[in-house]
Amino acid sequence: MKVTVVGAGNVGSTCANVIAHRELVNEVILLDIKEGTAEGKSLDMWQTSPINLYDTRIKGSTNDYSATANSDVVVITSGLPRKPGMSRDDLIATNAGIVRSVTENIIKYSPNTIIIVVSNPLDVMTYCAYLTAGIDSKRVFGMAGILDTARYRAFLAEALNTSPKDIQAVLMGGHGDTMVPLPRYTTVAGIPVTELIAADKLNAIVERTKVGGGELVNLMGTSAWYAPGAAAAQMVEAIVRDQKRIFPCCALLNGEYGLKDIYLGVPVKLGKNGIEEIIELKLNAAEKDLLSKSAVSVKEVMNVLDGMNQPVK
Ligand code: LAC
Repeated sequence: MKVTVVGAGNVGSTCANVIAHRELVNEVILLDIKEGTAEGKSLDMWQTSPINLYDTRIKGSTNDYSATANSDVVVITSGLPRKPGMSRDDLIATNAGIVRSVTENIIKYSPNTIIIVVSNPLDVMTYCAYLTAGIDSKRVFGMAGILDTARYRAFLAEALNTSPKDIQAVLMGGHGDTMVPLPRYTTVAGIPVTELIAADKLNAIVERTKVGGGELVNLMGTSAWYAPGAAAAQMVEAIVRDQKRIFPCCALLNGEYGLKDIYLGVPVKLGKNGIEEIIELKLNAAEKDLLSKSAVSVKEVMNVLDGMNQPVK
């Protein structure tokens, strides 16, 4: 199996490193526009193979998409990251141009690939890749929910002094401040979280999760990479190993949750065909309300992209 990661910045190189380290496939191509960066990082990673004991071949390429030919999965991480004070939506004009050209090149060499988008603003960049790729939406989706849920689970593990492994949760909506963590679908080793933590503490964790990316941008002056890279690699694993795992992913909705023609975070089943099922939870009125508010805010940014796609008169 062959996976390409486009963008050898922090997120892309972390993702490639996790894929190789965990030996998820036998070949990883890391591609970047900056001369030598992908080659250098790939060589550095490959030199960890005798230490970390893996066989995955990692090859770097400066913008030569022929090296990506016949990839089974492509992860697109290209684009500018956020700086302090910026929202993810501030990146739309620059990153849409980048994601469009990357997607065109990818589809040219790997028409049967599955595409995972990581670039921000996530929901809208996934929509942009879908419009450009012209392939089934089951094969174009975005990584955000695993990351946002991981932040939520990590905060809970800390507050409860329990293993993060035991925390299961669902989080829906856009990858922005309107995301919808769902305490009603959060358990600790099967125990509803609400039985283990006071409502005000849980609420504070939900609110911290919503701005979890921003917290890191403020600390580091740029956006996060360890958790985003690992989250994208987990999606790659579910696909290449046909695991049928259920993860929150950014998927095109066609009537599910009463929403249509919008890319939004929902629980899906991931396997060798990409999104094999969109799972519809029976949300209560308050949860539905939060999800539709999130959908409205994502749709606004999608409309900006649609406006940009109109021919100039
Ligand atoms: C974050 C960026 C990657 O949430 O969107 O950290």
